Amino acid sequence: MALDRTTIPNDLSAFWMPFTANRNFKKDPRMIVGAKDMHYETSDGRQVLDGTAGLWCCNAGHGRPKIVEAIQGQAAQLDYAPAFQLGHPLAFELANRLRDMAPDPFEHVFFTNSGSESVDTALKIALAYQRAKGEGSRTRLIGRERGYHGVGFGGISVGGIVNNRKFFGTLLNGVDHLPHTHLPENAFSRGQPEHGAYLADDLERIVALHGADTIAAVIVEPMAGSTGVLLPPKGYLEKLREICTRHGILLIFDEVITAFGRLGSAFAADHFGVMPDLITTAKGLTSGVIPMGAVLATAEIHDAFMTGPEHMIELFHGYTYSGNPIASAAAIATLDTYREENLFQRAADMAPYWEEALHSLRGLPHVIDIRNMGLIGAIELEPIAGEPTKRAYQAFLNAYDKGLLIRTTADIIALSPPLIITKDEIDTLFSILADVLKSLD
Ligand SMILES: Cc1ncc(COP(=O)(O)O)c(C=O)c1O
Repeated sequence: MALDRTTIPNDLSAFWMPFTANRNFKKDPRMIVGAKDMHYETSDGRQVLDGTAGLWCCNAGHGRPKIVEAIQGQAAQLDYAPAFQLGHPLAFELANRLRDMAPDPFEHVFFTNSGSESVDTALKIALAYQRAKGEGSRTRLIGRERGYHGVGFGGISVGGIVNNRKFFGTLLNGVDHLPHTHLPENAFSRGQPEHGAYLADDLERIVALHGADTIAAVIVEPMAGSTGVLLPPKGYLEKLREICTRHGILLIFDEVITAFGRLGSAFAADHFGVMPDLITTAKGLTSGVIPMGAVLATAEIHDAFMTGPEHMIELFHGYTYSGNPIASAAAIATLDTYREENLFQRAADMAPYWEEALHSLRGLPHVIDIRNMGLIGAIELEPIAGEPTKRAYQAFLNAYDKGLLIRTTADIIALSPPLIITKDEIDTLFSILADVLKSLD
């Protein structure tokens, strides 16, 4: 009889787990062994409602037949093709699909394997583009406090989460940060907060300090997810765009979370009606099934590289798995699933119900803020004095025991379910969460 690898206890010591309290976890492991549609199955046979689309990525839900079949078929047809100086049809097809889906100015797609790689790729393209245009003095990159742009050195340099930075040396040179957009006066906002557009003006201060001709690009998440759901105040992104354009600075939207329906449209750029110059994606591109990311570039940026002798490589950048055949097949099947099931519109239609259900938690113990946008929600808890993060972590454990997966950052609970969630499942989610909140110390 074949070994059942899904349930047999194993030695847990070898696997050094990412962003995990390893010792704590290994004393009392939480093992997932299956997933279908809106639910995970645990090794002790329980169903857990997925309130977070895995890690903000399984937008189409789990075990979706079209995606599974595409991966199986492609593995048998063409498992791998070298990514440099050779091509295979699916990567081109996928790039065309993304171009057709993206806002107008975005005509070219560079493939990566993760959000972190998409961010590093976009930063490198921005620097090389400025140089290609004869503006080689533009070498500075501007990020934002509390920003999350993955864990590569580029991403943690422009990112603004202290624990992701402080252990890792001096990071990239020449990086500065805008202030984050989270203001106490916006507590309990529904959708975009009223106050704070002026926070974008800080870019003028940074420009005055360093000189515009030293700045290559600004990178922000149009809606900051991983740091605990920080929403862009009304007018903020428009202002940022205007200041960047005026000073010849590229604007990069990190849409690793916001792309592919999370806000009810294909990209946050569409949702907010603000066009950046580069867009980074990953996660929902394959509904989290296979690692893949993509950077979308405007024709203007792409074409600046297409000079010089034609036998020369134009951009000295790429990954062994850029546009991997199986990942491309998974992504095409994912985009098909989004389209056939109209999932982006579904998310937009469900958002008001989601908002009402989420805000019904107002008034429960320890809740100091609730905010939402699209199919995203955050509940901020008052930290236990002297023990930050402990209360939210307790909520995560309690919820998991009660059959609900939530995500926590500091003392913020973040929710981002698959876009296939039903009203009944929304009710279940918030009823479990209400019980969890009432049970906290
Ligand atoms: C906005 C943003 N950028 C980049 C990343 C990094 O993506 P990955 O973990 O795939 O490297 C994330 C992950 O949550 C993200 O939210």
